Amino acid sequence: MCGIFGFVSKKPVTGIGNMLQALKKLEYRGYDSTGIAVVTQKGIYSQKKAGRISKLEPFLDKKVLGSVFIGHTRWATHGKPSDKNAHPHFGCDNKIQIVHNGIIENYKSLKHELEGRGHRFKSDTDSEVFAHLVEEFLGRKNGSEIRYFEEAVRLSLKRIKGAYAFAVIHQNYPKVIIVAKNSSPLLIGLSDQAKYIASDPIALLRHTRKVIYLNDQELAIVTPDQLKISTLQNKEILRKYQEVSWSEDAVRKTGFTHFMEKEIFEEPEAVENAIRGRLIVSQGLAKLGGLESVRQKLESVKRLIITACGTAFFSGLVGEYMLEEFAGLPVEVESGSELRYKRSPFDDKSALLAVSQSGETADTLGSIKEIKKTGLLTLGLVNTVGSSIARETNAGVYNHAGPEISVASTKVFISQLAVFALLTLFLGRQRSMSKNMGKLIASELTLIPRKLRTILESSVYIKRVARKYFKYNNFLFLGRKFNYPIALEGALKLKEVSYIHAEGYGAGDMKHGPLALIDENFPSIVIAPKDSVYDKVVSNMEELKARKGKIIIITTSGNKGLDKLADEVLYIPKTIEMLTPLLTVMPLHLLAYYMGVFRGHDVDKPRNLAKSVTVE
Ligand code: AGP
Ligand code: GLU
Repeated sequence: MCGIFGFVSKKPVTGIGNMLQALKKLEYRGYDSTGIAVVTQKGIYSQKKAGRISKLEPFLDKKVLGSVFIGHTRWATHGKPSDKNAHPHFGCDNKIQIVHNGIIENYKSLKHELEGRGHRFKSDTDSEVFAHLVEEFLGRKNGSEIRYFEEAVRLSLKRIKGAYAFAVIHQNYPKVIIVAKNSSPLLIGLSDQAKYIASDPIALLRHTRKVIYLNDQELAIVTPDQLKISTLQNKEILRKYQEVSWSEDAVRKTGFTHFMEKEIFEEPEAVENAIRGRLIVSQGLAKLGGLESVRQKLESVKRLIITACGTAFFSGLVGEYMLEEFAGLPVEVESGSELRYKRSPFDDKSALLAVSQSGETADTLGSIKEIKKTGLLTLGLVNTVGSSIARETNAGVYNHAGPEISVASTKVFISQLAVFALLTLFLGRQRSMSKNMGKLIASELTLIPRKLRTILESSVYIKRVARKYFKYNNFLFLGRKFNYPIALEGALKLKEVSYIHAEGYGAGDMKHGPLALIDENFPSIVIAPKDSVYDKVVSNMEELKARKGKIIIITTSGNKGLDKLADEVLYIPKTIEMLTPLLTVMPLHLLAYYMGVFRGHDVDKPRNLAKSVTVE
């Protein structure tokens, strides 16, 4: 987790304003504390404070001049959020300062060893050991030659176990940042005036679109005139930059109160962007350029394993229903945090598909790396172009949903569902799906954005329902078949942004336990479009009503048969059963958003959470 940003400029500048702007863009990654360090002519200037960036701002001297700046927004893993645990961390004499994203797994033994050599620690973090290690290896060789500094960082990295993105600066090197990466993301931005380092390209958009991603176990010496990338074994690597296409507007709220609200309102566009140029409706085919290189291999795949975490995992569950019923392909969905430790027997006719908005989730990435050892084909369904998962997999499909800033994922979830529909067409037509069925799915998919816009038109009504219910402390979300994963997603979203206890269940499972919870104070939200399991879901609602449970129902427009059961009804337009999740989820996203707002929470940055979880 955490956001790192920094730059080295040709001429000394008063760069703290730029630092703050960029760190604000990264705050979604962590907001336990903030810190900045600048190499000035008089030594290193640094300030750090627990809390949001606004807590640090009054303590900063914005006139500080320097050519080297680094900063950090923290998501605490080791040591509580406090001033002393905030990054940057220093060695004993403050000349070396570091910021870190990740977890140093062997920090205890390293700390013990370094304390034995006289190092004195000031924080409870794992990260601080790295500053002392570099200091130890540098010893007295801190003249002006970069190679000593580089070597000390390289030797220190070789002692570290775990995940890291580091940026290291030294008082005696006023034009150098050394960065290194393993598992946590780090990229370098190039411009004529300066070079930048960041955890996420969105922090770079104001400055440059030319970026180079570091790979695992690589280190880079970043100076205004030079960029040297090498492996830990000091093998130099030449890598060309790539262009980031995201617009700056995509990372602004553009009139909305929160990013979450903006991103829900972008859901129709997210589907449009996911399907643009990828459907041949008249042939009932999907064209997925990123899968062309493995098209033949995919024909012989007999089983697909989907791995993902959180919301992306739920999109995988919807994908399972789509692919099994319409592509005839057996699918299993495994959580990224579990699959990597499972010893499942996979035959060579299986393939792995990893789903991730950020493309950096450590658990999902860890599973891919494990599965790759077995030689299976690996695919990615990823939103962030060039991210670790995109690079680690053999082939894949991008969402093209643009950056998602709110910690709670909304527009990318819908985009993932749209891509699963495309994959169902792609893999289905390779197998037994008829052309007519392909045409039906393709044409219905093109209508989804328009239908989502009609749901947005009813957002005022959904807001009213949220106002009526936001004081309840518990909710049950129920759905069946295609909409069972949507019940899970609805419950997760409500928990994340409103801190209301919510549970998602298959509607049929309710009577196997959760029904015991139901009374007039425990409302249920039931997803009941007119589909093949509609009658079954209605029976489940009768069971709730018989226990005095309040019910908010999401059903297909025109369905008037639910008045006796429903306390509230939210309508979605008609579509084919397979695509109903793309419509039913939007009212749930809106409900969660409004309830979070009514409860007075910072919905974009829920407590304890961070957008992309790059630690295990
Ligand atoms: C979604 O609202 C969550 N914040 C979270 O569950 C998220 O989906 C999960 O951490 C996976 O992230 P990824 O898609 O970036 O891999
Ligand atoms: N493990 C470090 C800490 O607790 C870094 C966490 C992060 O990635 O923000 O401070």
